[in-house]
Amino acid sequence: MQIEILEDRLEQLRQLRAEAQAGGGPERIAQQHAKGKLTARERLELLLDKGSFRELDPFVTTRVTDFGLAERRYLGDGVVTGWGTIDGRLVYVYAQDFTVLGGSLGEGHARKIVKIMDMAMKNGAPLIGLNDSGGARIQEGVLSLGGYADIFLRNVMLSGVVPQISAILGPCAGGAVYSPALTDFIFMVRRTSYMYITGPDVVRAVMHEEVTHEQLGGADVHTTISGVAHFAADTEADLFYMIRKLLSYLPSNNMEDPPYVPNGDDPLRMEERLNTIVPDDPTRPYDIKEAIRLIVDNGDFFEVQPDYAPNIVIGFARLGGHSVGIVANQPAVLAGALDIKASEKAARFVRFCDAFNIPIITFEDVPGFLPGVAQEHGGIIKAGAKLLYAYAEATVPKITVITRKAYGGAYCVMNSRHLRADLVLAWPTAELAVMGPEGAVNIIFRREIAEAPDPEARRAELVAEYRARFANPYVAASYGFVDDVIEPKETRPRLINALEMLQNKRDQNPPKKHGNIPL
Ligand code: HXC
Repeated sequence: MQIEILEDRLEQLRQLRAEAQAGGGPERIAQQHAKGKLTARERLELLLDKGSFRELDPFVTTRVTDFGLAERRYLGDGVVTGWGTIDGRLVYVYAQDFTVLGGSLGEGHARKIVKIMDMAMKNGAPLIGLNDSGGARIQEGVLSLGGYADIFLRNVMLSGVVPQISAILGPCAGGAVYSPALTDFIFMVRRTSYMYITGPDVVRAVMHEEVTHEQLGGADVHTTISGVAHFAADTEADLFYMIRKLLSYLPSNNMEDPPYVPNGDDPLRMEERLNTIVPDDPTRPYDIKEAIRLIVDNGDFFEVQPDYAPNIVIGFARLGGHSVGIVANQPAVLAGALDIKASEKAARFVRFCDAFNIPIITFEDVPGFLPGVAQEHGGIIKAGAKLLYAYAEATVPKITVITRKAYGGAYCVMNSRHLRADLVLAWPTAELAVMGPEGAVNIIFRREIAEAPDPEARRAELVAEYRARFANPYVAASYGFVDDVIEPKETRPRLINALEMLQNKRDQNPPKKHGNIPL
């Protein structure tokens, strides 16, 4: 008799588990596949180490009965939550299930996500959200709005404590975009994922504008125009690979150092090509990414936001096995000038690295901030101040390599010695000055040039004089603003040595509630 009862109970458990596994049922799953999308469980299989996923709360359902929800109760309430490992390291995950009420977020759904977030905080492991949701579950009214706010609060509390990563894997509207927006990195899939506050229908009704989902909030829009997202992938499988790769550079929480991964690349490797990478003519561009690849371990540079504000390059790499964040002006785009987008892109990256103990390497070749009415009216002053603020407050090891121009305010901003850079190295091609020779001469010798018998000849003479005086690293080096001038080919060994020298760096900011970065 007792055995029979036990059997019944086991059978009940098996049935309930099967029901929870089934999500919205075979028809909805087929619809999901037909859209080129995977289900929540298939996604977790691809993201996590094989067999590592452990689910929590598969039996949670909504308590709301309004508007037909009593008849539409799904075990798990439209989100799969739990933990697993990536390369053997613990992560917490949630995956919204679009086959259940469009992945919409109700009270139970939100409580499950909140539980996982609290566990991530307590146990110090990254949080990864796989988002595929129609937003607040309309039938649950303010309960779903409250659920969102509970999640947003935790996103903010987790910020800077554990890395938070969002994958956008379907239409994410309304509340569904704000949690991702509070996280550190957003990944999207081309043609199947969208982010917007209001969709095309509302845009049509209110603004009388015709726009498709893709044009309004697709992956290309958010990784090239708005800068909301950091990575665009062609398939969900590619996206999960990229998340796994990103995590390999990051510590699990802010109390850990990033993983040290020796990879066989010789720390003393010299690169002759670097000695000729900067063109003779200071107005000619070159690709800073070529220099970065020659310097970092095995040429492996994991670029973040490659298609947004490409006049500045940011991303992760390893040097002698140590994880580093790289910020580099890109002379091949806008001559490497800092504009609003580039300043904000780099500022956020610097703050992320600082929060997670990742040393920052800065490659500098910048003619200054981008001039113009659009930039001034758009608030370049505030945007540039963000970057300045971010570098100044960062206490991780900070190393600068000046490859060519370090002009004007940009000299100060791009991790100068004065902002607590630990080491500033310059290539012999470096030029440190308030501005470029032509601009400078036109200002300080305006009268002399105007009064000269041959103004053009006098201007050329003065430009040559100015260039000889300032267009080199040695004036700054004589003041100790540049710590050493090195042959470009030595850059890799010098950086690795510096990182090891700085391994035990301890620096701090004065006690305060928080600073007030110009937002
Ligand atoms: C309840 C929802 C839902 C929602 C979708 N569904 N969104 N149920 N609440 N928010 C349900 C649909 O009724 C449908 O149910 C199923 O999910 C699949 O949806 P479809 O519309 O058939 O799918 P698709 O054609 O792919 O369109 C997906 C969509 C669309 C673009 C997401 O459903 C949509 O526009 N939904 C509403 C988006 C929205 O406005 N959300 C509220 C935002 S306000 P059946 O019955 O077929 O299973 C918000 C406030 C929070 O989030 C603010 C906090 C700051």
